[in-house]
Amino acid sequence: MKRRGFIKQSTLLGLGAMAACTPLNGKENQNSKSIVLSTWNHGLSANVAAWNILQAKGSALDAVEAGVRITEANPAFTSVGLGGLPDRDGRVTLDACIMNEQGEAGSVAFLENIMHPISVARKVMEETPHVMLVGEGAEKFAYDQGFKKVDLLTKESEIAWKEWLKESEYKPIINVENHDTIGMIAIDDYGNLSGACTTSGLAFKQNGRVGDSPIIGAGLFVDNEIGAATATGLGEEVIKTVGSFLIVELMRQGANPQAACEEAANRIIKKHGKPKFQVGYLALSKKGEIGAVSIHPGFQYAITSSKSATLKDAKSMLSSD
Ligand code: GLY
Repeated sequence: MKRRGFIKQSTLLGLGAMAACTPLNGKENQNSKSIVLSTWNHGLSANVAAWNILQAKGSALDAVEAGVRITEANPAFTSVGLGGLPDRDGRVTLDACIMNEQGEAGSVAFLENIMHPISVARKVMEETPHVMLVGEGAEKFAYDQGFKKVDLLTKESEIAWKEWLKESEYKPIINVENHDTIGMIAIDDYGNLSGACTTSGLAFKQNGRVGDSPIIGAGLFVDNEIGAATATGLGEEVIKTVGSFLIVELMRQGANPQAACEEAANRIIKKHGKPKFQVGYLALSKKGEIGAVSIHPGFQYAITSSKSATLKDAKSMLSSD
């Protein structure tokens, strides 16, 4: 993205941040156990939708679905849903998954023309005996379920793609835009955990490429006895280390969520030295403890509880130089 575009987009994103960073409306039940965590700046507006459900005694599952739908529908966020940057052939292809407190899961990958892949993933979980549908099959299933066909390529994303085509340089970079995949994990007032993860994937990826976000255990994992974790950043590295599953399993063995996220990031760092790509993890334990880690500085996450709605810096495992 050109610097001017980046500044314009940062301003847009920043306005959302200011609005959602204001104190909660004061009507919160101070004894509420509910917590919602999500990746990046766009998590703030997503958390507002999730929080409204949690405060109305809704389920964590409904909360995470409603939360990430906000991001999917916002064309300003060019890494998720509508307005997502296309692949190198100019096609916007989406990946998403969802998990509930019973450990059930639904997922879609390489899905085109559907605004809310997370809701299609939920339909896969609830209406089919399967976990994952991809490509044309997933799209046809979505239409059968009543989803509408939408052109997801916005003018702005088409311009960015045509600009990229001039050099067609294909190389993942450390994220500088304070948005990427949205992963959201939440615990509700009944003590149940759920999670959702949705993305348009790596910008200008090879046609057919699928990242970590729809892969259960990579982009997202929920175990209602232990905790939940989600990932953002370069999906290939998250898949190879089964990052979210790893974090929850480390928590099962006694690690707190922060230590578990640090170990998962370190597994990647050990293989690459100082990698030129970013990966970030969020984790939430059954007790409501939080973990937030990235390889490089710059990964922020949104956290909403009965105390506040804020954007925080995750701990970075490497320094910025
Ligand atoms: N984490 C998103 C992707 O790599 O597609």
